[in-house]
Amino acid sequence: MNLILFGPPGAGKGTQAQFIVERLGVPQVSTGDMLRAAVKAQTPLGIMAKKIMDSGGLVSDDVVMAIVKDRLAQPDCENGFVLDGFPRTIAQADALDKMLVEIGREIDCVISMELDDSQIIQRLSGRRTCSVCGKGYHLTYDPPASVDQCTLCGGPLVQRDDDRERTIINRLDVYARQTAPLKDYYEQSGLLRHIEGCGSIKEIQLQISSLLEGRQGDHS
Ligand code: AP5
Repeated sequence: MNLILFGPPGAGKGTQAQFIVERLGVPQVSTGDMLRAAVKAQTPLGIMAKKIMDSGGLVSDDVVMAIVKDRLAQPDCENGFVLDGFPRTIAQADALDKMLVEIGREIDCVISMELDDSQIIQRLSGRRTCSVCGKGYHLTYDPPASVDQCTLCGGPLVQRDDDRERTIINRLDVYARQTAPLKDYYEQSGLLRHIEGCGSIKEIQLQISSLLEGRQGDHS
């Protein structure tokens, strides 16, 4: 199954993508994770992207399309994928459609997670990520066993540079102006399914499970 997880920053896309990966056995394709890996490796792409990401803006469509095209061509995407944080502009959605037509594939479902701004700020300001294995936590809602150490691998937990309040506010503004219009785009193509992003991680998983069961029924 080829899915898009759509929603504002902090809606829980990355958290639920992990659940879908385990459930469907398809990889998560997160443009944010791929860009952060490039920043960490200090590649030319990473050096260029860091400034934009730290400000809460969007990396250019051409750059993002190139990394997504490479990633979807990898063998592990043959049986499906979960796109997380992509597409983020109408131009990216158009380019994705064209790319998928070229390779004879299509999106099966766009899961849109909704959450209000005050909850988003709470979620993002409490997020911590393991700098070694990448596992995500929330200091209140999904806490690690020890406040500054990854429960899985013991690596140090860090706060993302773009999870400071001023940057979060800019990210929300960018989302409203450039990304939210995609809801109409996918509504018109009949692919959009809404999920209430408010609730525990488990409760959201249950909503996604029943949605996926319906979709798998459609495919059988
Ligand atoms: P990206 O990494 O994609 O960030 P984002 O879309 O802003 O999303 P987040 O990763 O912040 O949030 P999420 O929805 O995954 O939430 P999470 O599950 O972690 O992008 C970063 C930057 O890269 C962009 O600003 C841009 O510069 C660039 N970029 C990326 N893609 C691009 C593109 N396509 N085009 C151009 N530029 C691009 O959850 C958040 C927290 O809440 C966690 O702590 C989690 O534990 C907790 N939580 C999750 N679910 C729940 C729940 N149900 N209850 C309580 N807590 C919860």
